[in-house]
Amino acid sequence: MIRTDVLVIGSGAAGLLLALRCASQGQSVALATKGTIEESNTAWAQGGVAAALDLEEDSPLAHFQDTLVAGAGLCDERAAAIVAAEAPQRVDELLRLGVGFDLGSGGAFDLTKEAAHSAKRVAHAADATGRAISNTLASRALRHPNISVLERSIAVELIVDSDSCHGAWLLVDGRLVSVLASAATALATGGSGRIFARTTNPPGATADGLHLALAAGARLADLEFTQFHPTALAVAGAPALLVSEAARGEGGIVIDAKGRRFCFDSDPRGELAPRDIVARAIYRQLQADPAGGVWLDLKPIGSPEAIRARFPNIAAACARFGIDIGASPISVSPAAHYHMGGILTDLWGRSAVESLYAIGECACTGLHGANRLASNSLAECLVFASRAAEDIAKTVAGDFDEGRATSPPAIVDACEEVDKVRALAWNAAGLIRDGAELRGAVDTLSAIPLNRRPLDRSSLEARSILIAATFVAKAALLREESRGSHYRSDYPERDDAHWRARIVWSSGGQTLMPVEVPV
Ligand code: FAD
Ligand code: SIN
Repeated sequence: MIRTDVLVIGSGAAGLLLALRCASQGQSVALATKGTIEESNTAWAQGGVAAALDLEEDSPLAHFQDTLVAGAGLCDERAAAIVAAEAPQRVDELLRLGVGFDLGSGGAFDLTKEAAHSAKRVAHAADATGRAISNTLASRALRHPNISVLERSIAVELIVDSDSCHGAWLLVDGRLVSVLASAATALATGGSGRIFARTTNPPGATADGLHLALAAGARLADLEFTQFHPTALAVAGAPALLVSEAARGEGGIVIDAKGRRFCFDSDPRGELAPRDIVARAIYRQLQADPAGGVWLDLKPIGSPEAIRARFPNIAAACARFGIDIGASPISVSPAAHYHMGGILTDLWGRSAVESLYAIGECACTGLHGANRLASNSLAECLVFASRAAEDIAKTVAGDFDEGRATSPPAIVDACEEVDKVRALAWNAAGLIRDGAELRGAVDTLSAIPLNRRPLDRSSLEARSILIAATFVAKAALLREESRGSHYRSDYPERDDAHWRARIVWSSGGQTLMPVEVPV
Protein backbone atom coordinates (compact mmCIF):
# COMPACT_ATOMS: atom_id res chain seq x y z
CA MET A 1 0.00 0.00 0.00
CA ILE A 2 1.23 3.48 -0.87
CA ARG A 3 -0.05 6.70 0.73
CA THR A 4 0.19 10.03 -1.08
CA ASP A 5 -1.60 13.37 -1.28
CA VAL A 6 -2.32 13.14 -4.99
CA LEU A 7 -2.44 10.15 -7.35
CA VAL A 8 -2.08 10.99 -11.03
CA ILE A 9 -2.77 8.18 -13.50
CA GLY A 10 -1.12 8.75 -16.88
CA SER A 11 2.11 10.42 -17.97
CA GLY A 12 1.12 12.45 -21.04
CA ALA A 13 1.10 16.24 -21.11
CA ALA A 14 -1.92 16.43 -18.80
CA GLY A 15 -0.68 14.00 -16.15
CA LEU A 16 2.91 15.24 -16.14
CA LEU A 17 1.94 18.89 -15.80
CA LEU A 18 -0.60 18.15 -13.06
CA ALA A 19 1.99 16.12 -11.15
CA LEU A 20 4.57 18.91 -11.42
CA ARG A 21 2.09 21.58 -10.38
CA CYS A 22 0.84 19.64 -7.33
CA ALA A 23 4.42 18.78 -6.35
CA SER A 24 5.45 22.41 -6.58
CA GLN A 25 2.60 23.41 -4.28
CA GLY A 26 4.08 21.05 -1.68
CA GLN A 27 1.89 17.99 -2.17
CA SER A 28 3.26 14.48 -2.43
CA VAL A 29 2.39 12.91 -5.76
CA ALA A 30 2.35 9.32 -7.01
CA LEU A 31 2.48 9.38 -10.82
CA ALA A 32 1.41 5.99 -12.14
CA THR A 33 1.67 5.05 -15.78
CA LYS A 34 1.13 1.74 -17.51
CA GLY A 35 4.29 1.78 -19.61
CA THR A 36 7.38 3.92 -19.33
CA ILE A 37 6.99 7.58 -18.50
CA GLU A 38 7.51 8.58 -22.16
CA GLU A 39 4.80 6.25 -23.45
CA SER A 40 1.83 8.43 -24.43
CA ASN A 41 -0.05 10.05 -27.30
CA THR A 42 1.62 13.27 -26.22
CA ALA A 43 5.02 11.92 -27.21
CA TRP A 44 3.68 11.36 -30.74
CA ALA A 45 2.11 14.79 -31.20
CA GLN A 46 3.45 16.55 -34.23
CA GLY A 47 1.84 19.86 -35.26
CA GLY A 48 1.96 21.83 -32.02
CA VAL A 49 -0.04 23.75 -29.42
CA ALA A 50 -2.72 26.27 -30.39
CA ALA A 51 -2.48 29.58 -28.55
CA ALA A 52 -3.02 33.20 -29.59
CA LEU A 53 0.58 34.25 -29.08
CA ASP A 54 0.94 36.90 -31.77
CA LEU A 55 -1.37 39.66 -30.60
CA GLU A 56 -0.75 41.78 -33.69
CA GLU A 57 -2.23 39.17 -36.01
CA ASP A 58 -4.38 37.13 -33.62
CA SER A 59 -6.39 37.28 -30.40
CA PRO A 60 -7.88 34.90 -27.82
CA LEU A 61 -11.27 36.01 -29.14
CA ALA A 62 -10.41 34.79 -32.65
CA HIS A 63 -9.12 31.49 -31.19
CA PHE A 64 -12.35 31.15 -29.21
CA GLN A 65 -14.47 31.80 -32.32
CA ASP A 66 -12.52 29.30 -34.46
CA THR A 67 -12.96 26.68 -31.72
CA LEU A 68 -16.73 27.20 -31.71
CA VAL A 69 -17.01 27.00 -35.49
CA ALA A 70 -15.08 23.72 -35.57
CA GLY A 71 -17.15 22.36 -32.66
CA ALA A 72 -20.34 22.63 -34.76
CA GLY A 73 -22.67 24.02 -32.11
CA LEU A 74 -21.75 21.67 -29.27
CA CYS A 75 -18.82 23.41 -27.58
CA ASP A 76 -19.12 24.48 -23.98
CA GLU A 77 -18.43 28.14 -24.59
CA ARG A 78 -17.02 28.63 -21.10
CA ALA A 79 -14.40 25.93 -21.66
CA ALA A 80 -13.53 27.42 -25.06
CA ALA A 81 -13.15 30.91 -23.58
CA ILE A 82 -10.93 29.60 -20.79
CA VAL A 83 -8.62 27.69 -23.14
CA ALA A 84 -8.35 30.59 -25.57
CA ALA A 85 -7.51 32.98 -22.73
CA GLU A 86 -5.12 30.76 -20.76
CA ALA A 87 -3.27 28.80 -23.46
CA PRO A 88 -0.75 31.58 -24.26
CA GLN A 89 0.44 31.68 -20.64
CA ARG A 90 0.76 27.89 -20.50
CA VAL A 91 2.85 27.80 -23.71
CA ASP A 92 5.09 30.57 -22.37
CA GLU A 93 5.60 28.53 -19.21
CA LEU A 94 6.59 25.47 -21.23
CA LEU A 95 9.16 27.56 -23.06
CA ARG A 96 10.59 28.70 -19.73
CA LEU A 97 10.67 25.09 -18.51
CA GLY A 98 12.88 24.28 -21.49
CA VAL A 99 10.59 22.97 -24.23
CA GLY A 100 12.46 23.69 -27.46
CA PHE A 101 9.75 25.51 -29.42
CA ASP A 102 10.89 26.90 -32.77
CA LEU A 103 11.49 30.63 -32.43
CA GLY A 104 11.97 33.33 -35.04
CA SER A 105 15.05 35.54 -35.21
CA GLY A 106 13.60 38.08 -32.72
CA GLY A 107 12.86 35.31 -30.20
CA ALA A 108 9.10 35.27 -30.89
CA PHE A 109 7.32 31.93 -31.46
CA ASP A 110 7.55 30.73 -35.05
CA LEU A 111 3.83 30.07 -35.43
CA THR A 112 2.27 27.88 -38.08
CA LYS A 113 -1.24 27.71 -39.47
CA GLU A 114 -3.45 24.65 -39.38
CA ALA A 115 -6.84 23.88 -40.85
CA ALA A 116 -9.80 25.99 -39.68
CA HIS A 117 -7.59 28.45 -37.79
CA SER A 118 -8.06 32.05 -38.92
CA ALA A 119 -4.49 32.99 -37.97
CA LYS A 120 -1.04 31.51 -37.53
CA ARG A 121 -1.34 30.28 -33.97
CA VAL A 122 0.34 26.90 -33.57
CA ALA A 123 3.56 26.88 -31.55
CA HIS A 124 5.72 23.92 -32.53
CA ALA A 125 9.06 22.20 -32.12
CA ALA A 126 9.66 21.18 -35.74
CA ASP A 127 7.23 18.30 -36.34
CA ALA A 128 7.84 16.63 -32.97
CA THR A 129 6.25 19.07 -30.55
CA GLY A 130 4.83 16.36 -28.33
CA ARG A 131 8.18 14.63 -27.90
CA ALA A 132 9.74 17.96 -26.85
CA ILE A 133 6.98 18.54 -24.27
CA SER A 134 7.02 14.97 -22.97
CA ASN A 135 10.82 14.85 -22.60
CA THR A 136 10.99 18.16 -20.76
CA LEU A 137 8.14 17.48 -18.36
CA ALA A 138 9.11 13.83 -17.77
CA SER A 139 12.70 14.64 -16.89
CA ARG A 140 11.49 17.26 -14.42
CA ALA A 141 8.96 14.84 -12.89
CA LEU A 142 11.64 12.15 -12.50
CA ARG A 143 13.87 14.62 -10.63
CA HIS A 144 11.22 16.20 -8.40
CA PRO A 145 11.56 15.11 -4.77
CA ASN A 146 7.79 15.23 -4.18
CA ILE A 147 6.97 12.92 -7.11
CA SER A 148 7.22 9.13 -7.04
CA VAL A 149 7.02 7.81 -10.58
CA LEU A 150 5.46 4.35 -10.81
CA GLU A 151 6.13 2.94 -14.29
CA ARG A 152 4.59 -0.31 -15.59
CA SER A 153 1.74 0.34 -13.15
CA ILE A 154 -1.66 -0.03 -14.73
CA ALA A 155 -4.78 1.24 -12.96
CA VAL A 156 -7.27 -1.61 -12.55
CA GLU A 157 -9.96 0.00 -10.41
CA LEU A 158 -10.57 3.23 -8.51
CA ILE A 159 -11.10 3.09 -4.75
CA VAL A 160 -14.42 4.72 -3.97
CA ASP A 161 -16.15 4.98 -0.65
CA SER A 162 -19.23 7.10 0.17
CA ASP A 163 -19.20 8.66 -3.30
CA SER A 164 -15.66 9.92 -2.85
CA CYS A 165 -12.52 8.66 -4.59
CA HIS A 166 -9.59 7.68 -2.36
CA GLY A 167 -7.08 6.36 -4.87
CA ALA A 168 -6.75 3.33 -7.09
CA TRP A 169 -5.67 -0.26 -7.33
CA LEU A 170 -2.71 -0.67 -9.62
CA LEU A 171 -1.26 -3.80 -11.17
CA VAL A 172 2.49 -3.52 -10.64
CA ASP A 173 4.69 -6.37 -11.85
CA GLY A 174 1.74 -8.74 -11.64
CA ARG A 175 0.80 -7.68 -8.09
CA LEU A 176 -2.19 -5.59 -7.00
CA VAL A 177 -1.06 -2.54 -5.02
CA SER A 178 -3.37 0.05 -3.50
CA VAL A 179 -2.45 3.72 -3.68
CA LEU A 180 -4.43 5.84 -1.24
CA ALA A 181 -4.64 9.50 -2.17
CA SER A 182 -5.77 11.80 0.62
CA ALA A 183 -6.39 14.93 -1.51
CA ALA A 184 -7.19 13.85 -5.06
CA THR A 185 -7.00 11.17 -7.73
CA ALA A 186 -6.73 12.28 -11.33
CA LEU A 187 -7.30 10.27 -14.47
CA ALA A 188 -5.05 11.48 -17.28
CA THR A 189 -5.24 8.26 -19.26
CA GLY A 190 -5.48 9.72 -22.76
CA GLY A 191 -7.52 8.72 -25.77
CA SER A 192 -9.18 5.78 -27.42
CA GLY A 193 -7.76 5.58 -30.95
CA ARG A 194 -6.91 1.91 -30.52
CA ILE A 195 -10.56 0.92 -30.43
CA PHE A 196 -10.46 1.42 -34.22
CA ALA A 197 -8.65 -0.81 -36.71
CA ARG A 198 -7.01 2.17 -38.38
CA THR A 199 -5.56 4.83 -36.09
CA THR A 200 -2.70 7.28 -35.71
CA ASN A 201 -2.52 6.48 -31.99
CA PRO A 202 0.18 4.47 -30.20
CA PRO A 203 -0.65 1.05 -28.69
CA GLY A 204 -1.53 2.36 -25.21
CA ALA A 205 -4.47 4.51 -26.38
CA THR A 206 -7.06 1.97 -25.25
CA ALA A 207 -9.58 4.21 -23.45
CA ASP A 208 -8.89 2.73 -20.00
CA GLY A 209 -10.04 5.86 -18.18
CA LEU A 210 -13.61 5.64 -19.47
CA HIS A 211 -14.70 2.50 -17.72
CA LEU A 212 -12.54 3.17 -14.64
CA ALA A 213 -14.44 6.44 -14.20
CA LEU A 214 -17.83 5.02 -15.04
CA ALA A 215 -17.42 2.15 -12.58
CA ALA A 216 -16.51 4.71 -9.92
CA GLY A 217 -19.74 6.63 -10.48
CA ALA A 218 -18.55 9.36 -12.86
CA ARG A 219 -20.38 10.36 -16.03
CA LEU A 220 -19.23 10.18 -19.64
CA ALA A 221 -20.29 12.42 -22.52
CA ASP A 222 -19.94 13.01 -26.26
CA LEU A 223 -18.74 9.46 -26.88
CA GLU A 224 -20.03 9.45 -30.46
CA PHE A 225 -17.55 12.14 -31.45
CA THR A 226 -14.29 10.64 -32.69
CA GLN A 227 -12.08 12.75 -34.88
CA PHE A 228 -10.64 11.09 -37.97
CA HIS A 229 -7.44 12.71 -39.17
CA PRO A 230 -7.47 13.20 -42.95
CA THR A 231 -3.86 12.34 -43.67
CA ALA A 232 -2.34 9.19 -42.22
CA LEU A 233 0.20 7.24 -44.24
CA ALA A 234 -1.51 4.65 -46.45
CA VAL A 235 1.14 2.18 -47.49
CA ALA A 236 0.63 -1.59 -47.43
CA GLY A 237 2.31 -3.06 -44.38
CA ALA A 238 2.96 0.32 -42.75
CA PRO A 239 1.19 1.66 -39.67
CA ALA A 240 -1.15 4.64 -40.15
CA LEU A 241 1.53 7.16 -39.23
CA LEU A 242 0.31 10.72 -39.01
CA VAL A 243 1.34 13.22 -41.64
CA SER A 244 0.75 16.44 -39.77
CA GLU A 245 -1.93 18.92 -40.68
CA ALA A 246 0.84 21.49 -40.53
CA ALA A 247 1.99 20.03 -43.85
CA ARG A 248 -1.22 21.37 -45.40
CA GLY A 249 -1.03 24.52 -43.28
CA GLU A 250 2.37 25.24 -44.82
CA GLY A 251 1.05 24.76 -48.37
CA GLY A 252 0.82 21.00 -49.02
CA ILE A 253 -2.04 19.99 -51.32
CA VAL A 254 -4.28 16.92 -51.52
CA ILE A 255 -4.75 15.43 -54.99
CA ASP A 256 -6.29 12.42 -56.68
CA ALA A 257 -4.44 10.11 -59.06
CA LYS A 258 -4.86 12.66 -61.86
CA GLY A 259 -3.47 15.51 -59.77
CA ARG A 260 -6.86 17.21 -59.17
CA ARG A 261 -7.40 19.10 -55.87
CA PHE A 262 -10.77 17.49 -55.14
CA CYS A 263 -11.16 18.89 -51.57
CA PHE A 264 -12.53 22.10 -53.10
CA ASP A 265 -15.55 20.10 -54.31
CA SER A 266 -16.64 19.78 -50.66
CA ASP A 267 -15.65 23.14 -49.21
CA PRO A 268 -14.27 26.44 -50.52
CA ARG A 269 -11.49 26.19 -47.93
CA GLY A 270 -10.19 23.11 -49.75
CA GLU A 271 -7.47 21.25 -47.83
CA LEU A 272 -7.77 23.73 -44.97
CA ALA A 273 -11.43 23.09 -44.22
CA PRO A 274 -12.14 21.57 -40.77
CA ARG A 275 -10.78 18.08 -40.34
CA ASP A 276 -14.06 16.22 -40.60
CA ILE A 277 -14.81 17.77 -43.98
CA VAL A 278 -11.36 17.04 -45.43
CA ALA A 279 -11.36 13.52 -43.96
CA ARG A 280 -14.74 12.66 -45.48
CA ALA A 281 -13.72 14.15 -48.84
CA ILE A 282 -10.65 11.90 -48.88
CA TYR A 283 -12.61 8.88 -47.70
CA ARG A 284 -15.21 9.32 -50.46
CA GLN A 285 -12.53 9.83 -53.08
CA LEU A 286 -10.89 6.58 -51.96
CA GLN A 287 -14.21 4.77 -52.18
CA ALA A 288 -14.72 6.14 -55.70
CA ASP A 289 -11.20 5.27 -56.86
CA PRO A 290 -9.47 2.92 -54.45
CA ALA A 291 -6.78 1.97 -56.93
CA GLY A 292 -5.91 5.59 -57.77
CA GLY A 293 -5.43 6.56 -54.14
CA VAL A 294 -5.19 10.00 -52.56
CA TRP A 295 -1.92 11.87 -52.37
CA LEU A 296 -0.50 14.61 -50.19
CA ASP A 297 1.90 16.63 -52.27
CA LEU A 298 4.27 18.83 -50.28
CA LYS A 299 6.13 20.31 -53.25
CA PRO A 300 4.25 23.66 -53.10
CA ILE A 301 5.92 24.24 -49.71
CA GLY A 302 9.37 24.77 -51.21
CA SER A 303 12.53 22.96 -52.17
CA PRO A 304 12.96 19.29 -51.22
CA GLU A 305 15.54 20.36 -48.63
CA ALA A 306 13.17 22.94 -47.10
CA ILE A 307 10.39 20.34 -46.86
CA ARG A 308 12.64 17.79 -45.19
CA ALA A 309 14.00 20.45 -42.81
CA ARG A 310 10.52 21.61 -41.74
CA PHE A 311 9.24 18.03 -41.25
CA PRO A 312 12.31 15.98 -40.30
CA ASN A 313 10.46 13.29 -38.35
CA ILE A 314 7.79 12.77 -40.97
CA ALA A 315 10.55 12.64 -43.59
CA ALA A 316 12.40 9.98 -41.59
CA ALA A 317 9.23 7.95 -40.94
CA CYS A 318 8.21 8.03 -44.62
CA ALA A 319 11.76 7.22 -45.74
CA ARG A 320 11.44 3.93 -43.84
CA PHE A 321 8.72 3.03 -46.36
CA GLY A 322 10.62 4.25 -49.40
CA ILE A 323 9.01 7.70 -49.69
CA ASP A 324 11.05 10.88 -50.09
CA ILE A 325 8.58 13.57 -48.98
CA GLY A 326 10.62 16.30 -50.65
CA ALA A 327 10.39 14.62 -54.06
CA SER A 328 7.19 12.59 -54.26
CA PRO A 329 3.61 12.80 -53.00
CA ILE A 330 2.63 10.70 -49.99
CA SER A 331 -0.18 8.15 -50.21
CA VAL A 332 -2.65 9.05 -47.44
CA SER A 333 -6.04 8.09 -46.06
CA PRO A 334 -7.96 8.99 -42.90
CA ALA A 335 -7.48 7.26 -39.54
CA ALA A 336 -9.04 7.54 -36.07
CA HIS A 337 -7.09 10.21 -34.24
CA TYR A 338 -8.77 11.87 -31.26
CA HIS A 339 -11.74 11.32 -28.95
CA MET A 340 -13.73 14.47 -28.20
CA GLY A 341 -15.85 12.42 -25.78
CA GLY A 342 -14.73 11.32 -22.37
CA ILE A 343 -15.25 11.71 -18.65
CA LEU A 344 -17.55 14.66 -18.08
CA THR A 345 -15.90 17.34 -15.96
CA ASP A 346 -16.51 20.87 -14.83
CA LEU A 347 -14.17 23.75 -15.58
CA TRP A 348 -11.71 22.66 -12.88
CA GLY A 349 -11.35 19.07 -14.07
CA ARG A 350 -13.71 17.71 -11.39
CA SER A 351 -15.78 14.66 -12.29
CA ALA A 352 -19.12 13.79 -10.70
CA VAL A 353 -17.28 11.80 -8.00
CA GLU A 354 -15.78 13.78 -5.15
CA SER A 355 -11.94 13.98 -5.27
CA LEU A 356 -11.84 12.36 -8.72
CA TYR A 357 -10.51 14.58 -11.50
CA ALA A 358 -10.15 13.87 -15.21
CA ILE A 359 -7.89 15.91 -17.47
CA GLY A 360 -6.57 15.78 -21.02
CA GLU A 361 -7.96 13.61 -23.77
CA CYS A 362 -9.76 11.20 -21.40
CA ALA A 363 -11.87 14.12 -20.15
CA CYS A 364 -14.80 15.86 -21.76
CA THR A 365 -14.76 19.50 -20.73
CA GLY A 366 -16.98 20.38 -23.69
CA LEU A 367 -14.17 22.42 -25.26
CA HIS A 368 -14.19 20.53 -28.55
CA GLY A 369 -17.90 20.00 -29.02
CA ALA A 370 -18.52 17.79 -32.04
CA ASN A 371 -15.10 18.37 -33.60
CA ARG A 372 -11.74 19.50 -32.26
CA LEU A 373 -9.86 22.38 -33.78
CA ALA A 374 -6.35 21.23 -34.70
CA SER A 375 -3.77 21.56 -31.91
CA ASN A 376 -6.39 22.42 -29.29
CA SER A 377 -5.77 19.16 -27.46
CA LEU A 378 -2.35 19.94 -26.05
CA ALA A 379 -3.66 23.39 -25.16
CA GLU A 380 -6.55 21.78 -23.27
CA CYS A 381 -4.19 19.37 -21.47
CA LEU A 382 -2.03 22.24 -20.23
CA VAL A 383 -4.85 24.58 -19.28
CA PHE A 384 -6.92 22.01 -17.40
CA ALA A 385 -3.93 20.39 -15.68
CA SER A 386 -3.14 23.81 -14.26
CA ARG A 387 -6.71 24.49 -13.26
CA ALA A 388 -7.09 21.08 -11.61
CA ALA A 389 -3.89 21.67 -9.61
CA GLU A 390 -5.23 25.02 -8.47
CA ASP A 391 -8.41 23.34 -7.31
CA ILE A 392 -6.58 20.45 -5.64
CA ALA A 393 -4.46 22.99 -3.71
CA LYS A 394 -7.63 24.09 -1.91
CA THR A 395 -8.55 20.55 -0.88
CA VAL A 396 -8.15 19.65 2.75
CA ALA A 397 -6.52 16.23 2.79
CA GLY A 398 -8.63 13.57 4.49
CA ASP A 399 -7.65 10.23 6.00
CA PHE A 400 -8.97 6.95 4.68
CA ASP A 401 -8.83 3.66 6.50
CA GLU A 402 -6.81 1.31 4.32
CA GLY A 403 -8.90 -1.63 5.52
CA ARG A 404 -11.83 -0.25 3.52
CA ALA A 405 -10.01 -0.53 0.20
CA THR A 406 -11.35 -3.86 -0.99
CA SER A 407 -9.06 -5.46 -3.52
CA PRO A 408 -10.53 -6.09 -6.99
CA PRO A 409 -10.73 -9.66 -8.30
CA ALA A 410 -7.43 -11.04 -9.56
CA ILE A 411 -9.06 -12.06 -12.82
CA VAL A 412 -10.56 -10.09 -15.67
CA ASP A 413 -13.36 -10.95 -18.09
CA ALA A 414 -11.14 -10.66 -21.12
CA CYS A 415 -12.16 -10.25 -24.73
CA GLU A 416 -9.94 -12.32 -26.96
CA GLU A 417 -11.26 -10.97 -30.25
CA VAL A 418 -9.78 -7.50 -30.12
CA ASP A 419 -9.04 -7.39 -33.85
CA LYS A 420 -12.67 -8.17 -34.58
CA VAL A 421 -13.79 -5.41 -32.20
CA ARG A 422 -11.46 -2.88 -33.80
CA ALA A 423 -12.59 -3.84 -37.31
CA LEU A 424 -16.24 -3.54 -36.31
CA ALA A 425 -15.66 -0.12 -34.77
CA TRP A 426 -13.85 1.07 -37.89
CA ASN A 427 -16.46 -0.29 -40.30
CA ALA A 428 -19.61 0.67 -38.41
CA ALA A 429 -18.57 3.66 -36.30
CA GLY A 430 -15.95 5.12 -38.65
CA LEU A 431 -16.16 8.17 -40.89
CA ILE A 432 -19.53 7.36 -42.46
CA ARG A 433 -22.08 5.66 -40.23
CA ASP A 434 -25.62 4.41 -40.62
CA GLY A 435 -28.23 3.06 -38.26
CA ALA A 436 -28.42 -0.49 -39.58
CA GLU A 437 -24.67 -1.06 -39.42
CA LEU A 438 -24.40 0.54 -36.01
CA ARG A 439 -27.24 -1.58 -34.66
CA GLY A 440 -25.54 -4.69 -36.00
CA ALA A 441 -22.24 -3.63 -34.46
CA VAL A 442 -23.81 -3.00 -31.05
CA ASP A 443 -25.45 -6.45 -31.13
CA THR A 444 -22.24 -8.17 -32.19
CA LEU A 445 -20.11 -6.31 -29.65
CA SER A 446 -22.56 -7.10 -26.87
CA ALA A 447 -22.42 -10.80 -27.74
CA ILE A 448 -18.64 -11.18 -27.94
CA PRO A 449 -17.65 -13.99 -25.59
CA LEU A 450 -15.44 -13.15 -22.62
CA ASN A 451 -12.99 -15.49 -20.96
CA ARG A 452 -11.72 -15.26 -17.41
CA ARG A 453 -8.00 -14.47 -17.46
CA PRO A 454 -5.46 -13.54 -14.82
CA LEU A 455 -4.89 -9.79 -14.69
CA ASP A 456 -2.30 -8.49 -17.10
CA ARG A 457 -1.92 -5.39 -19.26
CA SER A 458 -3.14 -6.92 -22.49
CA SER A 459 -6.29 -8.42 -20.94
CA LEU A 460 -7.07 -5.15 -19.19
CA GLU A 461 -6.59 -3.19 -22.39
CA ALA A 462 -8.75 -5.64 -24.33
CA ARG A 463 -11.50 -5.11 -21.76
CA SER A 464 -11.20 -1.33 -22.16
CA ILE A 465 -11.32 -1.55 -25.95
CA LEU A 466 -14.46 -3.67 -25.96
CA ILE A 467 -16.29 -1.46 -23.45
CA ALA A 468 -15.32 1.79 -25.18
CA ALA A 469 -16.11 0.48 -28.68
CA THR A 470 -19.55 -0.58 -27.48
CA PHE A 471 -20.21 2.85 -25.98
CA VAL A 472 -19.07 4.64 -29.10
CA ALA A 473 -21.31 2.51 -31.31
CA LYS A 474 -24.29 2.95 -28.96
CA ALA A 475 -23.80 6.70 -28.79
CA ALA A 476 -23.40 6.96 -32.57
CA LEU A 477 -26.61 4.98 -33.01
CA LEU A 478 -28.51 7.28 -30.66
CA ARG A 479 -27.50 10.52 -32.35
CA GLU A 480 -29.80 10.63 -35.36
CA GLU A 481 -28.24 13.58 -37.15
CA SER A 482 -24.89 14.58 -38.66
CA ARG A 483 -22.73 17.09 -36.84
CA GLY A 484 -19.00 17.71 -36.80
CA SER A 485 -17.10 14.44 -36.81
CA HIS A 486 -20.29 12.34 -36.48
CA TYR A 487 -21.74 11.65 -39.92
CA ARG A 488 -24.81 9.46 -40.44
CA SER A 489 -25.63 8.70 -44.07
CA ASP A 490 -29.23 8.00 -42.98
CA TYR A 491 -29.44 11.38 -41.19
CA PRO A 492 -27.12 13.57 -43.26
CA GLU A 493 -28.33 16.92 -41.88
CA ARG A 494 -27.52 18.73 -38.66
CA ASP A 495 -30.65 18.84 -36.49
CA ASP A 496 -30.35 21.60 -33.90
CA ALA A 497 -34.01 21.31 -32.93
CA HIS A 498 -33.44 17.85 -31.43
CA TRP A 499 -29.72 17.40 -31.04
CA ARG A 500 -28.12 20.55 -29.77
CA ALA A 501 -27.44 18.50 -26.68
CA ARG A 502 -24.82 16.10 -25.41
CA ILE A 503 -25.51 12.53 -24.60
CA VAL A 504 -24.35 11.88 -21.06
CA TRP A 505 -23.84 8.36 -19.78
CA SER A 506 -23.88 7.12 -16.24
CA SER A 507 -23.72 3.62 -14.94
CA GLY A 508 -26.48 2.04 -12.92
CA GLY A 509 -24.96 -1.38 -12.57
CA GLN A 510 -25.10 -2.97 -15.97
CA THR A 511 -27.63 -0.62 -17.53
CA LEU A 512 -26.39 2.45 -19.27
CA MET A 513 -28.81 5.34 -19.50
CA PRO A 514 -28.32 8.11 -22.01
CA VAL A 515 -29.23 11.51 -20.62
CA GLU A 516 -29.47 14.62 -22.73
CA VAL A 517 -28.21 17.79 -21.14
CA PRO A 518 -28.91 21.00 -23.08
CA VAL A 519 -25.70 22.81 -23.94
P1 FAD B 1 -1.66 10.84 -23.32
O1 FAD B 1 -0.57 11.70 -23.79
O2 FAD B 1 -2.18 9.86 -24.27
O3 FAD B 1 -1.18 10.08 -22.03
C1 FAD B 1 -1.99 9.09 -21.43
C2 FAD B 1 -1.15 8.36 -20.42
O4 FAD B 1 -1.94 7.51 -19.62
C3 FAD B 1 -0.09 7.47 -21.05
O5 FAD B 1 1.09 7.64 -20.33
C4 FAD B 1 -0.66 6.07 -20.84
O6 FAD B 1 0.34 5.07 -20.81
C5 FAD B 1 -1.33 6.25 -19.50
N1 FAD B 1 -2.39 5.29 -19.19
C6 FAD B 1 -3.47 4.98 -19.95
N2 FAD B 1 -4.23 4.08 -19.31
C7 FAD B 1 -3.63 3.81 -18.12
C8 FAD B 1 -3.93 2.95 -17.04
N3 FAD B 1 -5.01 2.14 -17.02
N4 FAD B 1 -3.08 2.93 -15.98
C9 FAD B 1 -1.97 3.70 -15.98
N5 FAD B 1 -1.63 4.52 -16.99
C10 FAD B 1 -2.46 4.58 -18.05
N6 FAD B 1 -2.75 17.36 -30.31
C11 FAD B 1 -2.38 18.64 -30.42
O7 FAD B 1 -2.92 19.50 -29.73
N7 FAD B 1 -1.38 18.99 -31.29
C12 FAD B 1 -0.74 18.08 -32.06
O8 FAD B 1 0.14 18.43 -32.80
C13 FAD B 1 -1.15 16.73 -31.98
N8 FAD B 1 -0.56 15.78 -32.76
C14 FAD B 1 -0.90 14.47 -32.58
C15 FAD B 1 -0.24 13.49 -33.31
C16 FAD B 1 -0.52 12.15 -33.10
C17 FAD B 1 0.19 11.10 -33.91
C18 FAD B 1 -1.48 11.78 -32.13
C19 FAD B 1 -1.79 10.34 -31.88
C20 FAD B 1 -2.15 12.75 -31.42
C21 FAD B 1 -1.88 14.09 -31.64
N9 FAD B 1 -2.53 15.10 -30.92
C22 FAD B 1 -2.15 16.40 -31.06
C23 FAD B 1 -3.46 14.76 -29.84
C24 FAD B 1 -2.68 14.87 -28.52
O9 FAD B 1 -1.39 14.37 -28.68
C25 FAD B 1 -3.34 14.10 -27.40
O10 FAD B 1 -4.71 14.38 -27.36
C26 FAD B 1 -2.73 14.53 -26.07
O11 FAD B 1 -1.34 14.38 -26.12
C27 FAD B 1 -3.31 13.71 -24.95
O12 FAD B 1 -2.56 13.94 -23.80
P2 FAD B 1 -2.99 13.25 -22.44
O13 FAD B 1 -2.02 13.68 -21.42
O14 FAD B 1 -4.42 13.48 -22.21
O15 FAD B 1 -2.87 11.69 -22.77
C1 SIN C 1 -1.31 17.22 -36.64
O1 SIN C 1 -0.14 17.56 -36.49
O2 SIN C 1 -1.91 17.18 -37.70
C2 SIN C 1 -2.07 16.84 -35.45
C3 SIN C 1 -2.55 18.05 -34.82
C4 SIN C 1 -3.63 17.69 -33.87
O3 SIN C 1 -4.04 16.54 -33.77
O4 SIN C 1 -4.11 18.63 -33.25
